Amino acid sequence: MIRPILKYGAEGLHDRARPVEAITPEIDRLIDDMIETMYAAPGVGLAAPQVGVPLRIFVIDLSSGRDPSGLTVVINPEFVERDGMQLEEEGCLSVPGFEATVVRPLRAVVKGLDRAGNEQQREGVGLLARAFQHEMDHLDGTLFVDRLRGIKRDLIVRKIKKLTRAGKW
Ligand code: NI
Repeated sequence: MIRPILKYGAEGLHDRARPVEAITPEIDRLIDDMIETMYAAPGVGLAAPQVGVPLRIFVIDLSSGRDPSGLTVVINPEFVERDGMQLEEEGCLSVPGFEATVVRPLRAVVKGLDRAGNEQQREGVGLLARAFQHEMDHLDGTLFVDRLRGIKRDLIVRKIKKLTRAGKW
């Protein structure tokens, strides 16, 4: 089932999410829905708080469903390593229509549980490292806009407020 994606400013999107305590059928359904919602958007990553569920789960597929091995689901993720730095344009399904250059690690290793409840460790370089950091940020209530400074951030926030007032957000 495709779930509505919360947008910047929505209740719950800016809070820290809780760890998953058990992979229940409900959690399994949530993950199915997150994958379906990500593909439908279309996007390359989605975190549970973006669909209004305050739990530490994210899904990433840089191939947008074209490569069956491209899907990564991580429950209760943690960083094991992060190094290097990259500066690239970035967007977010919760901030549609906006992009900005964000500083991210060049390489990141994440560990957490897979859908079966087994420990897994994934290494990402370049775009995947960026996606790991972006989705991990969502679990702490941080959006890419919050990573910006000064006028770049103010400009986006001001435009979102204007769109909100006009009922177009
Ligand atoms: Ni996002």
